[in-house]
Amino acid sequence: MGHPRVDAIVQQAREAVAAAQSSAELERVRVGVLGRQGELTQLLRSLGTLPPEERPLVGAAANEAKRELEALLDARLGATLETERQHERARQRLDLTLPGRRPPRGSLHPLTRVHDEIVAIFAGLGFSVAEGPEIETDYYNFEALNIPRDHPARDMQDTLYLTESTLLRTHTSPVQIRAMLAQKPPVRIIVPGKVYRRDVADATHSPMFHQVEGLAVDRGITMADLKGTLALFAREMFGPRSQIRFRPSFFPFTEPSAEADVLCFVCHGDGCRLCKQGGWLEILGSGMVHPQVLRNVGYDPEEVTGWAFGMGIERIAMLKYGIDDLRLFFENDLRFLGQFA
Ligand code: DAH
Repeated sequence: MGHPRVDAIVQQAREAVAAAQSSAELERVRVGVLGRQGELTQLLRSLGTLPPEERPLVGAAANEAKRELEALLDARLGATLETERQHERARQRLDLTLPGRRPPRGSLHPLTRVHDEIVAIFAGLGFSVAEGPEIETDYYNFEALNIPRDHPARDMQDTLYLTESTLLRTHTSPVQIRAMLAQKPPVRIIVPGKVYRRDVADATHSPMFHQVEGLAVDRGITMADLKGTLALFAREMFGPRSQIRFRPSFFPFTEPSAEADVLCFVCHGDGCRLCKQGGWLEILGSGMVHPQVLRNVGYDPEEVTGWAFGMGIERIAMLKYGIDDLRLFFENDLRFLGQFA
């Protein structure tokens, strides 16, 4: 049994099989010995070139070696493949102890936050939220609010007209009219919403911004109620040390009219950068509902009186968070918005 040439091939192949680390390496060994160009195959093919007396000896030894190596390779390949499958399964197994990936957390837009805060403060005082259309008629936006034809607010410069008599509302005040027409006094509403003006966007102007209108109509309502309500609002919005002051002003739909300032919450009146050294921050327009406005909705100004105010949500948010450019609210830069989480 055996032949030196065959034994040498078998010996080499056994060592190569023992050294092989993977099914791929084993396959390479198999091809190297038993493949079409393999050493043993070549040897068997060359039997005819051997002296006749050697042929049967080498032939038998080579065939024997072939069977042995085939069996050896099959066994090793089977075992190696099984180990490799186990490794692969282990690699792919879910590790349930790993912490999960948290979805990134969103945050409310600063305007939404301020809007919600304003609504919550007035809801606590018994006001309900009313809404109205952003496309308004000239009548509700101007006429019913006692804004005469030649009033500058009607100017083509300020108002985005859609047709001769329809426009994008320039303020939330037309909802006062709609609300009063829809119900009898007492009325206590706030009206948050978008308003539009023919302005080019810059740090302090935007063709669209947000307002909140307030309206209270009942028997015996006075300007003291207005001031008390606004003082409470200021304390809730800007802190317990807040104060309100009125400055005389003019709006066609209120008489008397007042602009309300809040004591600067940074310097408490001493003067600083935020209040431009004035000590006070302007936050809204207000006044006692003009008797003509009450008559326009069928209310009797001898019987009921009311106050109203209108403030810009952007303005309140800019003051509260120290934001100096209106455009930041509308650019949706997450680096800005994420700061209000
Ligand atoms: N509508 C006014 C504006 O857009 C703001 C305003 C002032 C509303 C006085 C009111 C008010 O209700 O009483 O400038």
